[in-house]
Amino acid sequence: MLKDEVYAILKERVGEFVSGEELSTELKKSRTAIWKAIGSLKKDGCFIEATTNRGYRLTERGDALNKGAIERSMRKKGVSIDVYKEVSSTLDLGRKYALGGEKGVKVIVAESQTEGRGRFKRKFYSPKGGLYMTVVFRPETNAKNNLYVTAEVAVAVSRAVKEVCKTDTEIKWVNDLYIGERKVCGILTEAQVNLESGTTDFVSIGIGINLVRPEGGFDKEIADKAGYISINQQFDRKNRLVAKIVDEFFDIYESEDLLSVYKEYDKKLAFKGRKVEVILGDETFVATEVGVTEDFGLKVKTDDGKERILRYGDVSLAVK
Ligand code: BTN
Repeated sequence: MLKDEVYAILKERVGEFVSGEELSTELKKSRTAIWKAIGSLKKDGCFIEATTNRGYRLTERGDALNKGAIERSMRKKGVSIDVYKEVSSTLDLGRKYALGGEKGVKVIVAESQTEGRGRFKRKFYSPKGGLYMTVVFRPETNAKNNLYVTAEVAVAVSRAVKEVCKTDTEIKWVNDLYIGERKVCGILTEAQVNLESGTTDFVSIGIGINLVRPEGGFDKEIADKAGYISINQQFDRKNRLVAKIVDEFFDIYESEDLLSVYKEYDKKLAFKGRKVEVILGDETFVATEVGVTEDFGLKVKTDDGKERILRYGDVSLAVK
């Protein structure tokens, strides 16, 4: 899209005026088309100054999503990216794409969601300011190889947040990211498995990150549990983060070295050594977190000294 190309040029020369004529010559488009693209970028949330004699200048403010900027930051090739202002849920759009039968990796990103969903049918609060994305791909391997995708995504997002936002996060088993005792990111992985062939038709990974405190604060329900990455927005952070998450995830997914991923996961495990409440279907008990196993199970010790390894379920801090 023209607006992505205009954004790329303005970003390359951020803080500098670029004349409408220059943009129009370089992109071989009319001045009116350039002007329209600038209007559309402004609507997306880009801070662009326009001066009659000097042209357009992008200032280092704002954190609008931009397809071109994501594409340019991403190492992985052949990824198709769709950017939206608001959607019901990026996971729903991902599913539609996957069922449509198109091949190739698809990334769907939105500035906000009206029906964001989380694990255990919970609602995922998705106001503007956060990052909401879904990555859909069709694994070429046997379904067994996809058992650890959930844990791999958690490590990938944690690495990307560290690199782009310069912020350390911990992983609450299975795949929430925490800063201290507050959740800053939720991940929900869905897949369609073909039971006859043992293959996976598609995997769809939904990631929601609270980058900043939403205007007016978090919903009452989660206000005492939700956190955010930083007080202020950072210029072009969402675009870089989307690209880095995709790159880190596929680096991990395509590597043979699960052992180092497990070690990193275990090192980042939140609440290690602390008492957590475990919910396993109908069963609820309190135990102390010991660590993760090499196949990403959660090892806990109950008060009678017995060790249990959790393969599913949910944990939360028992004593604050
Ligand atoms: C959880 O915390 O239980 C998982 C939350 C997953 C939220 C993300 S946001 C992008 C994608 N779309 C959704 O509706 N959910 C996931």
